[in-house]
Amino acid sequence: MSGDSSVATLLDMGVAALKAAGVENPRAEARLLLAYATGLDKAAQIRDPQTKVTTPQQHRYDGLVSRRAAREPMAYILGHREFYGLEFDVNPAVLIPRPETELIVERGSQLLAGAHQARILDIATGSGCLLVALLTSLPGSSGQGSDVSAPALEIAKANARKHGVDAATEFFLADWAKGIEGPFDLIVSNPPYIPHAEIAHLQPEVALFEPLMALDGGTDGIEPYKAMTPDLMRLSGPTTRILLEIGQGQENVLDAWFAQHGFVVGMHRDHAGIVRVLELCWPVTFDRSLHP
Ligand SMILES: C[S@@+](CC[C@H](N)C(=O)[O-])C[C@H]1O[C@@H](n2cnc3c(N)ncnc32)[C@H](O)[C@@H]1O
Repeated sequence: MSGDSSVATLLDMGVAALKAAGVENPRAEARLLLAYATGLDKAAQIRDPQTKVTTPQQHRYDGLVSRRAAREPMAYILGHREFYGLEFDVNPAVLIPRPETELIVERGSQLLAGAHQARILDIATGSGCLLVALLTSLPGSSGQGSDVSAPALEIAKANARKHGVDAATEFFLADWAKGIEGPFDLIVSNPPYIPHAEIAHLQPEVALFEPLMALDGGTDGIEPYKAMTPDLMRLSGPTTRILLEIGQGQENVLDAWFAQHGFVVGMHRDHAGIVRVLELCWPVTFDRSLHP
């Protein structure tokens, strides 16, 4: 593309390239990319479509359009994604936070409302979105996050700083929660839960660009839950609540698994009506010796 093109021309070219690549909302996304490349926001683009764009800005825009046409996720291109009303830094080392995961923050905030200095553990923290969102909505609480990916932990730390909760967080490079000391008031986790064979069939944004270790739940998608069960048992006390995101249709097998390990299991549905979060706790025991 040569220099001195107008906003309208660049937009049309971007829309055509994204449409041909199968991108779902080509106009909205081309506008975002044009805004990122030029600093002209959507309102400015609409107000004056004949504005000329400089040659370096055009080159930048072309590069961004090519990346998106190769189906790289917008969040990686722009470097951030909104989650629970907060902007999180993301890069290809971390899963892009999903709207359905906000259910854990909603339920966790309800459970801990009014708690004094609650302690939270986020196993497989990735971008840190769960831990950071919980800490920002629960002043006075503190938390730990674990992940096997060192680059992911760097992003989680940056997000904790960005949202002013770094003093209340510690991050650990760990296989699930091995080596972490409890107990915690709330344990949350959104582990990888996609059956290995299904990953190649996901949309290209996910299958080609998101980290395999953030997606791959082994043969049946439930291996990570099984692997972290000893940690969940060790780190939870009589009043601990555990919130786990699960994949569609995994609720019955996981209900049976956790019940078999002594937990009481509750379920929460997302806005699409899918059972998305399991809530675990230990059964309440009545000590007769204290109440003769
Ligand atoms: C589905 S992502 C979730 C990230 C983030 N909590 C969220 O909700 O967006 C799963 C995360 O699990 C991490 N992970 C995979 N295997 C792990 C293991 N054995 N121990 C700890 N973390 C692991 C991945 O690196 C990835 O960051």
